[in-house]
Order: sequence, then C-alpha cells, then structure tokens
Amino acid sequence: MHPHIDHVIFSAEEIAKRVSEIGAQITADYMNSRPLMICILRGASIFMADLVRAVELPIDIDFMAVSSYGKAAHSSGVVRIVKDLDTPLIDRDVIIVEDVLDSGLTLKYLSSNLSARNPRSIEIATLLLKNPSPAITPKYIGFDCPNEFVVGYGLDYAERYRNLPFIGALKREIYTV
Ligand code: IMP
Ligand code: MG
Repeated sequence: MHPHIDHVIFSAEEIAKRVSEIGAQITADYMNSRPLMICILRGASIFMADLVRAVELPIDIDFMAVSSYGKAAHSSGVVRIVKDLDTPLIDRDVIIVEDVLDSGLTLKYLSSNLSARNPRSIEIATLLLKNPSPAITPKYIGFDCPNEFVVGYGLDYAERYRNLPFIGALKREIYTV
C-alpha cells in the first residue's frame, strides 16, 4: 500500500488476469490482420506494455499524446494533440489503447481525428470505464470503474503514482484543497 491511497480497487493480479483476457480477445478478433495499436500517452503506457505482450499476432505500435486534464482532477474540456503519430493510418486496422473513459471527450475527439485519416477499421480498448458514453462504445473494456479518482498502473494525479502496480482510490485530501 501507499500512504496516499485510500483503498485498492483493482489488484495487480486482477489487472494481469483481465489484460491477458483482452489480449486473447484481440488475438482472436484480428487473426487475419496486423493491427496498429495506438497508445495514448502517458496514462495508457503500462496497460499498453502488458496488453501488446498478451496479443499473439504480428502488430505495429505507435504513440500519441493529447492533453485534456492538465493538473486538475476534472476535465478542462479542451483536447489538444501534443504528440502525433508517425504511422499513416490508411487501410490499417487501428486499436486505440486508452486508460480511462470518463466524459468521453478525449476518445470522441481521438476517434473522429483518427477516422479522418482513412483507416480500414478503428476500435477502442480502454482499461477503465467510468461513465458509459452514448457517443463512444469501446470494443474492449478492462473494468467498470467506480466514480472515484483513481491512480496507479499508469494513471496519475499531477504526474504522480503512475508506477503503483495496482489501481487505487486516491485519498480525498490529496486532490482537494
Ligand atoms: P474524458 O475525456 O473525460 O473521458 O477523460 C479521460 C482522461 O481523463 C483519461 O485519459 C485520463 O487521463 C483522465 N482521467 C479520468 N479519470 C481519471 C482518474 O480517475 N484518474 C486519472 N486520470 C483520469
Ligand atoms: Mg490521461
């Protein structure tokens, strides 16, 4: 445990089991393809690293960074590309790998931005689903997540806690002033 964590929500063991299940699903779904898996930095980096190793197919990887939250625990409502892809998407089977679907703003922006680059298909793998969004339906979901601010396994608060091996709820006094 960590002194700033109120309680563990998903243990390292639960996460590993779920990630290998999603890897097996992707392996089955893309049997005749070579999907391009796009990691949304930085929150999805740990999920991505584990997920790609659970996919038993030739794949390509690329990375993209968007900013929508800054240091706040609430969405600023603004999505901006901070680092773009190096790979053309034309005729590719794309899987966007994201950490959390909350308001859906980030993934809505990303889906429409990437769709405009003419991929063959585009699907979303999100580690956590906080709020089901009518606009965005991820094909792969790690866990339904309670509506708490969570950190660890890649997820941060003000860039901290990404290296915790589990996902836990941050103590309220840490992110409220
Ligand atoms: P959305 O645009 O509201 O769906 O927010 C998605 C983004 O917000 C994710 O990429 C996360 O970086 C961030 N986010 C949302 N909830 C949490 C949380 O509980 N912990 C850490 N980051 C979060
Ligand atoms: Mg993020």
